[in-house]
Amino acid sequence: MKNYFVSIVILINFLFAQDIINPIPTSIAYDKAKAKLGKKIFMDTSLSKDGTISCNSCHDLKNFGVDHKEVSTGVENKLGRVNSPSVFNSVFNFVQFWDGRAKDLVEQAKGPFFNPVEMGLTPEILIEKVSANKDYVKEFDELFGELSVDTIALALAEFEKTLITPHSPFDKWLRGDENAISVQAKRGFESFKANGCISCHQGQNIGGNMYQKIGIFEVYPNEESSLGRFEQTKKQEDRLVFKVPSLRNVAKTPPYYHDGSIPSLDACIQFMAYYQLGKFLEKDVVEDIVAFLESLTGEYNEAN
Ligand code: HEC
Ligand code: HEC
Repeated sequence: MKNYFVSIVILINFLFAQDIINPIPTSIAYDKAKAKLGKKIFMDTSLSKDGTISCNSCHDLKNFGVDHKEVSTGVENKLGRVNSPSVFNSVFNFVQFWDGRAKDLVEQAKGPFFNPVEMGLTPEILIEKVSANKDYVKEFDELFGELSVDTIALALAEFEKTLITPHSPFDKWLRGDENAISVQAKRGFESFKANGCISCHQGQNIGGNMYQKIGIFEVYPNEESSLGRFEQTKKQEDRLVFKVPSLRNVAKTPPYYHDGSIPSLDACIQFMAYYQLGKFLEKDVVEDIVAFLESLTGEYNEAN
């Protein structure tokens, strides 16, 4: 019964979803001086318990904002519970974290410093460490009027506005350049729509605009890493419900899923069809969808 209901929801979404992938803007407004300060904080390993970890350790800007590990390693080599999502284009997500527990980038940025398996500080020690750097003290004073956990988060969030990857071949195609993507990628996009992937992965981030359960048609086997939204709401219907991840740059950000359990994109697509759609996709269809997903790789402008 439940599966029929979900099928109907997917069908309705599909009927109205033909054109609901939009390009991301080629630039967004941000405050240059604050973003520059935010970048220094983002890269600074001294702002962690043992001086080894920065935001960039797990969200490497040279690696499309990920660490390529199943789960991240934080201070004192401690292991996290879930896979590190990219910080690229996260500004376009409707909420932050796999389970959506932060409403925006400012709220999100206050998490990692105080997470014992990430940077392992307390608010007092964070302020102490930032204050030890006279340049930071001066810049926070000039730009924000004070140095506090809140202004540190504001600087980081300002920097994260620069972490966007416009000009993907697919966006160029959406904007009218017929030859920007291959014939195979175009076929893959048609399959992505026809099979109902687009009912969940849609909007300008091709994801990141709704919550969905992993394991609609088949039970998802791993309840160890995270129970998703359930951990926030304690409602049974929120078990294994996650923010649908953005598929921008997805070809560059293995391994996949919140538990990092799927190493390759073709396996990832086949498992999506199995768990989310109750389908088996032929090998050539999977290959076409891989070509489409590869066309979602954009360009990061490091000059920011
Ligand atoms: C030890 C590794 C680690 C460090 C250090 C770290 N992160 Fe993360 N980051 C993660 C993981 C893992 C998640 C997913 C956690 C979750 O959803 O519960 C995450 C989630 C995020 C997200 C949400 C993205 C999305 O799409 O939901 C943003 C933004 C982010 N981190 C920014 C930062 C910033 C800024 C810093 C530095 C203050 C930082 N991270 C430090 C591992 C790390
Ligand atoms: C009912 C909603 C839904 C449908 C339909 C759906 N997905 Fe997903 N997709 C999700 C959710 C939720 C996740 C996150 C799962 C997790 O992390 O455990 C996800 C994850 C993914 C990922 C991994 C992203 C990452 O960074 O880890 C890819 C790739 C993907 N989906 C592609 C597809 C394709 C291709 C299809 C169609 C064959 C599809 N999805 C259909 C909801 C859906």
